[in-house]
Amino acid sequence: MNLYKKSFLKLLDLTPDEISGLVSLAAELKAKKKAGVPHDTLRGKNIALIFEKTSTRTRCSFEVAGYDLGMNVTYLDPSGSQIGKKESIADTARVLGRMYDGIEYRGYGQTIVEDLAKYSGVPVWNGLTNEFHPTQILADFLTVKEHFGHLKGIKFVYMGDARYNMGNSLMIGCAKMGMHFVACAPEKYFPDPALIEQAQAIAKETGATVEFITDPKTAVKDAQVIYTDVWVSMGEPAEVWAERIADLTPYRVTMDLMNAAAPECVFMHCLPAFHDLNTTVGREIHAQFNITEMEVTDEVFESEKSIVFDEAENRMHTIKAIMLATLSNIELTAAVR
Ligand code: CP
Ligand code: NVA
Repeated sequence: MNLYKKSFLKLLDLTPDEISGLVSLAAELKAKKKAGVPHDTLRGKNIALIFEKTSTRTRCSFEVAGYDLGMNVTYLDPSGSQIGKKESIADTARVLGRMYDGIEYRGYGQTIVEDLAKYSGVPVWNGLTNEFHPTQILADFLTVKEHFGHLKGIKFVYMGDARYNMGNSLMIGCAKMGMHFVACAPEKYFPDPALIEQAQAIAKETGATVEFITDPKTAVKDAQVIYTDVWVSMGEPAEVWAERIADLTPYRVTMDLMNAAAPECVFMHCLPAFHDLNTTVGREIHAQFNITEMEVTDEVFESEKSIVFDEAENRMHTIKAIMLATLSNIELTAAVR
């Protein structure tokens, strides 16, 4: 099993064995890094990181992972290139494909990253689109596996807007890995019916379940992971805040909700999170709507149940695994799920 020369665009493109192989490779690379064992086997290769939206974790993970693997890294920020404004994606892809061995893209529509892969001729990695955030899910799965020892059978509840990149990707990822996925939100925030259908077809093969529940207490019964994301994603207009706050406040992750789950339940979040007033946006929302916390309370975020910083660290190890597996001819081994 190998992913040499392939792109990493969405989890729908990967088999369960490939996903578990990448998670295992990430665990190996993490152990090497902790033990100080050099692993710069991609020395001399060059990668470009295109960010049309801002980032802390994803950018730093690609940069550090790139350097650890011995590569040279070019970062293109949201305003510093011709992409989309003066040059089409197809033309940009053909230019960058002549210079770079791999390209990361963070931005808007999934079709953009798919086109980059189609026209560049080199591996392209999706660093977040409106529809999917697949590198995040690998980090989440490595974290769950470290914590519980396995993925299969884990009850994984996603609270909040499940129609966007995080809800979509977690639903597909959990279905692929034989997990019990629940999206909990008002009905209008459930994923696209066509994608739900795909998730259900995958679940049938893997033994997973995929459910949609509007009542938080019912949804989190026996949950081992409660996951949430921001209520308004990058690129969405500021006007949607009022509606999101009204609709999603009952779905905030509180200690009361954590206590209604399984005793071993952990809290996860892709980050950044609005759990206090220590951010500009958090303070602006507080001034306008008089709320001090949004998708998660500060109590839960700072509690023993929260494993969000393990999760953030694992972004780097999993992104490293993706780059190593797609830029070199190495065999992936499917681990126990
Ligand atoms: N989780 C995540 O993608 O974080 P950044 O936006 O900081 O990259
Ligand atoms: N849904 C969020 C995820 C951030 C990592 C966004 O797109 O802004």
